Amino acid sequence: MTRVALVTGGSRGIGAAISKALKAQGCEVAATYAGNDERATAFTDETGIKTYKWDVADYEACKNGIAQVEADLGPVDILVNNAGITRDAPFHKMTAEHWNAVIDTNLTGLFNMTHNVWGGMRERKFGRVISISSINGQKGQFAQVNYAAAKAGDIGFTKSLAQEGARAGITVNVVAPGYINTDMMSTIPEKIMDQIVGAIPVGRLGEAEEIARAVTFLASDDAGFITGSTLSANGGQYMV
Ligand code: CAA
Repeated sequence: MTRVALVTGGSRGIGAAISKALKAQGCEVAATYAGNDERATAFTDETGIKTYKWDVADYEACKNGIAQVEADLGPVDILVNNAGITRDAPFHKMTAEHWNAVIDTNLTGLFNMTHNVWGGMRERKFGRVISISSINGQKGQFAQVNYAAAKAGDIGFTKSLAQEGARAGITVNVVAPGYINTDMMSTIPEKIMDQIVGAIPVGRLGEAEEIARAVTFLASDDAGFITGSTLSANGGQYMV
């Protein structure tokens, strides 16, 4: 049976790897993006995966965008809440804009997206909701009060919603990546980056494809007994 998968932030970085991996598993995949038209077009040209532009922080945009995806591909069976941003700053320098941007995208985005597919999943008695949290939502991180709060919130969101979805055949899980080799790392100063890699027991950054494999497993029919879990993929940097 062909499943329809929707991946937010699905045309770059970890999201792109997830979109491609789900397609390789036989899913019909739609990927959203927020701003970078050029990268999205290149991604569609390369993969054949359709991309849709909207801001996950905007509830109405999510509602309308999901309606368009469902008109094009059919009901969404698998939702991957991957879209995320950073606005790192030590707390004394963090502004309300830094705080709101990160909470709106990385936490409220989960509500906006999931709320608009939840009714359909309940009716069809099947669904997979997988959200990408972070090691820093588990352990906290200097200069990431906003990001860690949102990513910890993603875990609480998941544990609660998993309880509601269980009887309806919907699993809700989180993958918590460690430091992965993507554009997001580019804002980290080199000296700090050396410290970070030094603290990863496997001695390297993760690759986006390694996160994608965790997601495809949780999205599979085989993972039906796994719900409310947090799957850490961080090279041993933090063990919970
Ligand atoms: N632990 C302890 N001290 C730290 C630190 C850390 N992790 N990171 C920075 N510092 C220190 C710096 O060494 C510096 O100290 P000195 O002044 O003594 O040299 C001080 O904090 C920074 O002070 P500044 O006022 O200069 O800070 P800034 O306004 O220039 O901000 C920064 C710099 C944003 C904190 C920058 O250091 C940085 O980006 N740090 C890394 C933050 C980080 O790890 N982000 C994760 C991004 S990846 C991600 O989010 C994906 C994921 O899910 C894992």
